[in-house]
Amino acid sequence: MERDNALYRDLDRILVTREQIHDKVKELGQQIARDYAGKEPVMICILKGASVFFTDLIREVPLPLTTDFMAISSYGSATKTSGVVRILKDLDKDILGKDVIIVEDIVDTGITLSYLMKILVQRGAASLRIAALLDKTARRKVPDLQVDYVCFDIPDAFVVGYGLDYDQKYRNLPDIGILSPRVYEG
Ligand code: IMP
Ligand code: MG
Repeated sequence: MERDNALYRDLDRILVTREQIHDKVKELGQQIARDYAGKEPVMICILKGASVFFTDLIREVPLPLTTDFMAISSYGSATKTSGVVRILKDLDKDILGKDVIIVEDIVDTGITLSYLMKILVQRGAASLRIAALLDKTARRKVPDLQVDYVCFDIPDAFVVGYGLDYDQKYRNLPDIGILSPRVYEG
């Protein structure tokens, strides 16, 4: 996709380019392949935000992995989480005794993931790790949440693209950009 369309004009600026994303995702895939050598991890995509990252990432991991998908929603306004998480679509397969990697788009306060981790720990996974595309460490409210793999640490700004949305839009941008506040402040 070219960068001269209406979607891009809603951005204040591009924060992470598609080229930077590509390089990092490849690096992360190789790291996961080393860490899980000899294993058959289950990689779980947290829908919908992680979908673009997930499909790129799994193709960089040369292991006999399996995939599963989970959709959760955290109640709240379009740009803030409330902390209450609801499972909209659960995993298809049991994760008992499995090495699980949760793939998430962004860790902000960490409330969504810590809630999800509690649920998945109870299901008896042999191991459980988190891979996140983006991390807004400055906004963390759950300090003990361990995010094992992160592609980019970003500042406290609302970002869209490469799977991340505002009001379900902008997921199809190949780059990650800071959404202009005029879009959501009206
Ligand atoms: P947390 O529970 O505060 O960590 O929120 C995580 C969820 O909020 C992510 O999975 C996203 O769906 C959403 N989110 C947080 N920050 C952003 C952002 O900058 N852009 C788009 N979605 C975001
Ligand atoms: Mg999300």
